Amino acid sequence: MEAALEGGALLKRSLGKVRSIDYKGAINIVTDIDKKSEIVIVKKIRRAFPGHAILAEEGGSLTGSCEYKWIIDPLDGTTNFAHSFPFFGVSIALERDGEIVVGVVYDPIKGEMFSAETGKGSYLNSKKIKVSGIKKLSQSLLATGFSYGVQDTEDDNVENFRRFLKRAMAIRRAGSAALDLCYVACGRFDGYWEMDLHPWDTAAGMLVVNEAGGIVTKCDGSQYTPYNKNILASNNYIHNKMIEVLSYS
Ligand code: IPD
Ligand code: CA
Ligand code: CA
Repeated sequence: MEAALEGGALLKRSLGKVRSIDYKGAINIVTDIDKKSEIVIVKKIRRAFPGHAILAEEGGSLTGSCEYKWIIDPLDGTTNFAHSFPFFGVSIALERDGEIVVGVVYDPIKGEMFSAETGKGSYLNSKKIKVSGIKKLSQSLLATGFSYGVQDTEDDNVENFRRFLKRAMAIRRAGSAALDLCYVACGRFDGYWEMDLHPWDTAAGMLVVNEAGGIVTKCDGSQYTPYNKNILASNNYIHNKMIEVLSYS
């Protein structure tokens, strides 16, 4: 949490002050602030846990032989950030022997710290959170996202989007997978799916959803790990319906 607060504070004070943008792909950008945030977070974790491995999006990864690995997205929602659209955050998870045991997602704009530890529930700041009680897809607010490869592939999530549009109450594409998951955990969203993600996008949020009483699987309902690309998270009640909608192909 201290590392997330530090990274988040940097993001907040740097909003609107991006100095450089590099292109990882046609629409996939990384700013100087992504990299600075990662340096701050990795430094803090390194100092506290020198022997632990680190998997961080912007290249600050370190291998380690011990059982612990930190999985870090120093800025989830870079496109939003670069446009001063205030929906982004820091995501940090701790994996122990291949299992996520701690997850923290921090939104510095709202001052919202989502956190979870295996077996101990999920929190939004100091308040315990749980998933929504919505039972019908037709009454659900869903979230999704589109991959940076969207312009170059037929497998672009658009048909899924179209199908849910016809079945759900509404859909949002807010632009931060980590926060989308936490919004499922605290009941703001009822369900969320996305097709092309990385471990740093979902590792923390997955635990926050699970510990809040939700469910996280692959889009076909099978077991999910953060190393899988596609993800389906929900309040449980609408999960089977969402699998059904996603399983047309
Ligand atoms: C992205 C965001 C976005 C999702 C993308 C992710 P980034 O992460 O989580 O919501 O749709 O697929 O890559 O690049 O802003 O860290
Ligand atoms: Ca991300
Ligand atoms: Ca990122």
